[in-house]
Amino acid sequence: MTSADLVVQGCRRLVTCRGPIPKRENALQDAGPVDKAWIASSRGRIVFIGKERDFRAKVRPERSAVHLDGTGMVGLPGFVDSHTHLPFAGNRVEEFRLRLRGYTYQQLAKKGMGIQTTVAATRRASKKDLLSLCLARLDRMMLHGATTVEAKSGYGLNLKDEIKQLEVLKEAARHHPVDIVSTFMGAHDIPKEYKTRKSAYIDLLIKKIMPEVRRRDLAEFFDVFCEKGVFSVEETRRLAEAAKRAGFKIRIHADEFSALGGAELAAEVGAASADHLISITEKGIRVLSRSETAATLLPSVSFFLMLEKKAPARRLIDAGAALNLASDFNPGSSMIGSMLFVMQLGVYLLKMSIEEALNAVTANAAFALRRHDSIGSLEVGKKMDMLLCDVPEYASLVYELGWNPIRHVIKNGRVVVRDGKRNSSF
Ligand code: NIG
Ligand code: FE
Repeated sequence: MTSADLVVQGCRRLVTCRGPIPKRENALQDAGPVDKAWIASSRGRIVFIGKERDFRAKVRPERSAVHLDGTGMVGLPGFVDSHTHLPFAGNRVEEFRLRLRGYTYQQLAKKGMGIQTTVAATRRASKKDLLSLCLARLDRMMLHGATTVEAKSGYGLNLKDEIKQLEVLKEAARHHPVDIVSTFMGAHDIPKEYKTRKSAYIDLLIKKIMPEVRRRDLAEFFDVFCEKGVFSVEETRRLAEAAKRAGFKIRIHADEFSALGGAELAAEVGAASADHLISITEKGIRVLSRSETAATLLPSVSFFLMLEKKAPARRLIDAGAALNLASDFNPGSSMIGSMLFVMQLGVYLLKMSIEEALNAVTANAAFALRRHDSIGSLEVGKKMDMLLCDVPEYASLVYELGWNPIRHVIKNGRVVVRDGKRNSSF
């Protein structure tokens, strides 16, 4: 008999998103459904998935075990958000108003607004204020199904404030049930002080800030904004190679507005992920799809910036890319932290199937963070990170829009959201 400290009984349907992971092409069509499923965990790890009869024969719940009734509900893995800019202060409502009057995101960035506005606000913010902002955002993200969230620095753009952002993330991870994966993104933009001396800033990043972030063990990944007017392909290559030598794994903001060849570069340097890809070329699609670099699409950016152009999800899937979806939560181009909504946008904007979108916010998103051995699917041995939704079938997660059907969220085997409300004891 296996003992269990958490039992979810009688789910109408469980969407397991089970492996092999990453899922490519046709494999993305299989969300691994199991009908009338029981699922149990012990000390945060899944120990059983199956039918009631098997459960009774194999699992003995501990006396203090927590029981949840899944009758009438659909269960699925907790969402993994593989791309966010979580620790920022201030907002960009003024910029949003200007965009509504016809200015583009890039025009505003050229005027010195955009990222620089948020850099100024984030530099001014105290650690304490930044931490409470992060915790409140993580609560909301969790209510919308996220159980693991990648989070980038990149609004400090100097030693002190990049470290401040990353320390806040470390602190947030200690206080919040959601798992945080930290990324150092000092190469998000060129700070004002270095506007005419970009190569001096690159030197500062490589010689000073990168080693310090590593020494303090503050980030697992390094990310660069490879874009016209920001970092070129050559500069991105130099930064990524230096970051690898310093011990970081790589992610790249690639081919968002301009087709510079960021996707090809990401594959070349062995990045875990190439993100955005709205402007990826045919060659980029080919190269990326044959690589182990995940293709991370952020449909909330096309939506939030009201762009005609969308990332070519269908062509990427057909070419065999390891595609996933993430929120890009940030104040300028995606003030959207709901992975439920991101999954829906995957279908409505990128024309993905419901099953593809489900796999893209779970199993494949875990692959993009190189965490697919422990999260992203409901399988024995993996973390018990799970959502229970009040919908008649999983298609309704996409078919019904504008409200939140997620009733319970289980993180590491603990019920952190119950009946749609944050359980404040965790
Ligand atoms: O991923 N593209 C660059 N960085 C963010 C936007 C950050 C901002 O506007 O503050 C992005 O879209
Ligand atoms: Fe981003």
